[in-house]
Amino acid sequence: MPSPADTHENAASRATGTELVRFENVTKRFGGTTVLDRLDFSVATGKHVTLIGPSGSGKTTILRLLMTLVKPDEGVITVDGDRLTHEERNGRLVPAGERHVREVRKKIGMVFQHFNLFPNMKVLRNVTEAPVHVLGLSKDEAEQRARELIELVGLSEQLDKYPSQLSGGQQQRVAIARALAMRPQVLLLDEVTSALDPELVAGVLDVLRDIAQSTDITLLVVTHEMSFARDISDAVLMFDKGRIVESGTPEKIFSDPEHERTREFLSTVL
Ligand SMILES: Nc1ncnc2c1ncn2[C@@H]1O[C@H](COP(=O)(O)OP(=O)(O)OP(=O)(O)O)[C@@H](O)[C@H]1O
Ligand SMILES: [Mg+2]
Repeated sequence: MPSPADTHENAASRATGTELVRFENVTKRFGGTTVLDRLDFSVATGKHVTLIGPSGSGKTTILRLLMTLVKPDEGVITVDGDRLTHEERNGRLVPAGERHVREVRKKIGMVFQHFNLFPNMKVLRNVTEAPVHVLGLSKDEAEQRARELIELVGLSEQLDKYPSQLSGGQQQRVAIARALAMRPQVLLLDEVTSALDPELVAGVLDVLRDIAQSTDITLLVVTHEMSFARDISDAVLMFDKGRIVESGTPEKIFSDPEHERTREFLSTVL
């Protein structure tokens, strides 16, 4: 019997075959603890993959590895065919230099649980700042794109406000627009609604549903909002103790899970 991690041939990459994000045999340890254990999975271009599982199972660590905030102890992570941790120089694979990391990182956007908007900048400038200074867009171009994105997240009326004048849900929607403004190929979302007051959650999830439907961006999502996960996902990966317990379509995972561990987890969150 192959182990669960070997069998999870993931539904997301089956459809198109072009893998935007790929983890191969990735192990991450903190001190003596193995947090990710020989992890294999991939996310195909344009697909929406959701990671679920109990607290401490390694979900955030996966996103932090992709953001190059932490390094894997073993294994290979590629984004759009480029290795995150290594680059080729004169035909040899060497540890990635800062420039290589910066280039690969440009393909990845992230929204965290705690939006960290620039408090001294109004909404519009929060969204234009990085495209102007990092991507080198002209101010006009960045503003035009920012206005479109701010409309997409439903905040056209709030362009002239500072973050402190917005609700938590509105701030999180600005954070989503700000991440999209960098035109990432893949957007990582880590429990983006879990710090919000309950009445603000639905609005943010609606915006994300809309983005999932109306754009071709690839999404890698960690969420405890199971009905949202069911709505937007092409594939759901169930984690436990740094391994994939099972994976499949949302219908399969939520309606007919194979593993007791998945059933047990879902009974605590559904
Ligand atoms: N920088 C770190 N140093 C030491 N241990 C860490 C560090 N980051 C994460 N861990 C440990 O790694 C494990 C996985 O953490 P991770 O944040 O990936 O879990 P998670 O699945 O996102 O959990 P949650 O649902 O609570 O957010 C946990 O046991 C955590 O304590
Ligand atoms: Mg987490």
